[in-house]
Amino acid sequence: MVCLGNICRSPLAEGILRSKLPKNSFIVDSVGTANYHIGNSPDKRSIAVAKKYDIDISNLKGRQFSINDFDNFDLIYVMDESNYDNVIKLARDEEDINKVHFILNKIYPDQNYSVQDPYYGGESGFENIYKILDEACSNLANDLLEV
Ligand code: 4NP
Repeated sequence: MVCLGNICRSPLAEGILRSKLPKNSFIVDSVGTANYHIGNSPDKRSIAVAKKYDIDISNLKGRQFSINDFDNFDLIYVMDESNYDNVIKLARDEEDINKVHFILNKIYPDQNYSVQDPYYGGESGFENIYKILDEACSNLANDLLEV
């Protein structure tokens, strides 16, 4: 799961997706394309909304996307177009490019919609992104478990 800072959207997506998959059968992780928050905990508003739905993301730590992630992961989900562009810039070949998808395409196929960045907004933005990520991750988990 990829966003810009790896403190608001992608840690939430990581926690939500992990909660929907059987333990120890998938590696779920999240990163930011930027280096602003390496080693930092998620934003307290993301921690709070996750906790409200019984998901604990308080121990996650910010990490920056690196080329190794193309080798270590089969699927890379981005939150928005700018994340997409930043990840694709680092792709080495067609195989890397084909791993990168918009998370909201799990709800709205082929639309490439963005999960809006809630960083500068209020608490309600976090509730909204929780709901949309929950729906997208449910669809993703169902697909992964069907394969
Ligand atoms: P995120 O939100 O990409 O969902 O983690 C942001 C968090 C921090 C910043 C930007 C976006 N920032 O500029 O520090």
